[in-house]
Amino acid sequence: MTNNDTNDAMTKQTLLITGGAGFIGSHVVRLLVYKYPDYRIVNLDALTYAGNLENLRDVEHAPNYVFERADITSPDEIKALFEKYRPDGVIHLAAESHVDRSIANPLAFVETNVMGTVNLLNAARNIWKDDAGGKRFYHVSTDEVYGSLGEEGLFTEETRYDPRSPYSASKAASDHFVRAYFHTYDLPVVLSNCSNNYGPNHFPEKLIPLIINNIKQDKPLPVYGDGKYTRDWLWVKDHASAIDTIFHKGRTGETYNIGGNNEWKNIDLVEKLCDIMDELLGKPAGASRRLITFVKDRPGHDRRYAIDASKLKTELGWEPSIKAEAGFRETAQWYLDNDAWLQHVVSGAYQQYYNQQYQTTGNK
Ligand code: NAD
Ligand code: TYD
Repeated sequence: MTNNDTNDAMTKQTLLITGGAGFIGSHVVRLLVYKYPDYRIVNLDALTYAGNLENLRDVEHAPNYVFERADITSPDEIKALFEKYRPDGVIHLAAESHVDRSIANPLAFVETNVMGTVNLLNAARNIWKDDAGGKRFYHVSTDEVYGSLGEEGLFTEETRYDPRSPYSASKAASDHFVRAYFHTYDLPVVLSNCSNNYGPNHFPEKLIPLIINNIKQDKPLPVYGDGKYTRDWLWVKDHASAIDTIFHKGRTGETYNIGGNNEWKNIDLVEKLCDIMDELLGKPAGASRRLITFVKDRPGHDRRYAIDASKLKTELGWEPSIKAEAGFRETAQWYLDNDAWLQHVVSGAYQQYYNQQYQTTGNK
């Protein structure tokens, strides 16, 4: 899988992407590999349950792409790779990313999201200590650090941090460390906080792919609590393009919020997915809605997230490209067309997770 034949002479810039085998990371890697043939793109990923090189089949032989299996929680591995590649830029996406898993095992989130990020910051600081000119450490974060909104209002870059799950607390801590390295050591950083993503290659523990997968299998569709929790959904390829824009044009030391302008209550979203799937599968209207099952709520469940992304639009000219309905339909179609991908990821380990997480499932 590793492609170490990259010709250094033709390489203008080396970018190290962490978590490039995951959902968002794989879209970022693909975009960069195709858009910047003269960059060397190094994908550093530990291949946890969420990392999947099948996401990158089409780029694995590209001459400007290299894969390195490594764990960001290992200072030695990270230091060695930074010395080997001496990246000009880092785009850091590797993380434990699922709120429900963070409730079951918070420490893993502290280790990967906090310790892992600090290891990367130290490694970048070490190789850029003599000359940080033109260098950039981009930390990819989440809107969940801002906490929970009521019916009104939007998160801006000025919103006070108020993380309420172990996942969001670990991401908030990592954001603070990134800013601390900017202020204390002049490390050239930039950050973004993004809303919920959806699209191809999304691991089916998250709401949208889980619902699509369960409809395919005629299984209950678990909706937490009253189903009126609200998320702002962004097409994953739009997130990748925002990351490209911010990496190249964002101001050092700044934070940019990224959102889809696309708020949905969970129950409305699940019903929409049911209707799209009925149509694509040729089922009678309303067939999949009958699978909807309200289940026990997530502890500490944040009521609403919504993003004000006007800074990104005004300063850097970025806006989401795709409308919700088209994006949901394309996503559902992708899961129908890529059954082999889905079958590979819903392996034994996934079944175990699923049985544990949804053991309380029952009709309301
Ligand atoms: P994901 O869980 O799909 O992928 C995470 C990737 O990180 C995997 O490839 C995994 O193998 C890798 N990884 C995990 N631990 C590692 C370690 N110790 N060392 C090296 N690699 C490791 O996550 P995602 O949904 O693609 O999220 C990517 C980033 O974007 C995360 O930082 C997340 O907080 C952030 N984010 C995600 C969303 C979303 O909706 N998914 C929204 C906003 C921000
Ligand atoms: P999720 O995709 O886990 O993203 P996040 O928690 O990071 O926002 O969940 C999105 C929303 O869907 C959230 O309000 C929790 C809810 N949800 C369900 O109702 N049922 C489920 O089975 C899952 C996984 C999530």
